[in-house]
Amino acid sequence: MWSDVERRNNVRRGPISAHVIVLGNEKGGSGKSTTAMHLAVALMKAGQRVATIDLDSRQSTLTHYIDRRRLWGRKINQPLEIPLHFCIARAEGVRVDDNETAEFGRFADAITEIEHRHDFLVIDTPGADTFLSRLAHSMADTLVTPLNDSFLDFDVLAAVDPQTFELTGNSHYAELVREARRQRRIVDGKMTDWVVVRNRLSTLGSRNRKLVGEGLNELSGRLGFRFVEGFAERVIYREFFPRGLTAVDEIGEQALGMRPSLSHVTARLEVQGLLSNLRLPLDDRGRKRAEARAEWFMSAYRPLEVDDLLDGGDGGGDGDGGDGPATLPPMLPPVSPVSG
Ligand SMILES: Nc1ncnc2c1ncn2[C@@H]1O[C@H](COP(=O)(O)OP(=O)(O)OP(=O)(O)O)[C@@H](O)[C@H]1O
Ligand SMILES: [Mg+2]
Repeated sequence: MWSDVERRNNVRRGPISAHVIVLGNEKGGSGKSTTAMHLAVALMKAGQRVATIDLDSRQSTLTHYIDRRRLWGRKINQPLEIPLHFCIARAEGVRVDDNETAEFGRFADAITEIEHRHDFLVIDTPGADTFLSRLAHSMADTLVTPLNDSFLDFDVLAAVDPQTFELTGNSHYAELVREARRQRRIVDGKMTDWVVVRNRLSTLGSRNRKLVGEGLNELSGRLGFRFVEGFAERVIYREFFPRGLTAVDEIGEQALGMRPSLSHVTARLEVQGLLSNLRLPLDDRGRKRAEARAEWFMSAYRPLEVDDLLDGGDGGGDGDGGDGPATLPPMLPPVSPVSG
């Protein structure tokens, strides 16, 4: 049976040209699929060629998200960016080694189709320790771990004393990441950039938010990750899914299928902020592609202006404090609207 390192060497014959972003966290429901979709679409809007792989074939959330986006684009007759997507089915045979060989074969085929024709590969993993998830972790250039901003979810990174909040030990997942990074270094000497992304942040300052920040600060040095703020807790992140849309999609009533609100604008800024905090290698070629497409797109479609939003009231606020005119951020799409 192949070792993980041998398997990965086989997957990466020569350097893979796409930058690999892996979304990982063994805790279910932390925002992996939501973040994967938002990053994939934001990168496409920045002119990058993006492929996606769903390793969670049981739930297939990312796959359903992309399918819905395709259908919605057809329904509203508007081009929406769709990545080249693969969902790798889990093998369900009796023998573990046969299953791993079959899964590895499917994964390697997908990588072969993707690697030299795309700038980014975004891999969504299940909330469990699986063979393919480990393999993906050991291929990551950027490992993104969304973490619900609560001590309840903190134990995926470390054991925490419930009374004092002091850190008492590492977790299974932290050990998995350590081993995956070690393997990555053995193969090509590269370091995986591990970024813990605080998700579902409370929009109101809270003691919890401060404590989680302090805990992450202490742990980041010990485990070798950096942490950044991700998305606030917003109902709209859940509302986007049925239409396959994201916060970086054009704010127009026809495209959204609902009245846009200031929360969309704020959420868009959050996604742009995350993209920039991840410090991904966005090249000039991609930027030029994005500019050219944005120009074409803008000539065909006029998005809502800030005034339109203010006139329209809150359009169905989600109670996250992001809908009032007082919190209106400047309307800026540095991640430009692009057609696929
Ligand atoms: N910032 C947010 N605000 C509000 N809801 C959110 C936010 N992020 C994620 N959600 C919602 O939380 C749920 C879980 O998110 P998601 O499916 O992305 O997590 P996951 O880590 O992929 O879960 P799993 O481990 O089960 O695959 C979804 O209903 C999603 O819409
Ligand atoms: Mg998921």
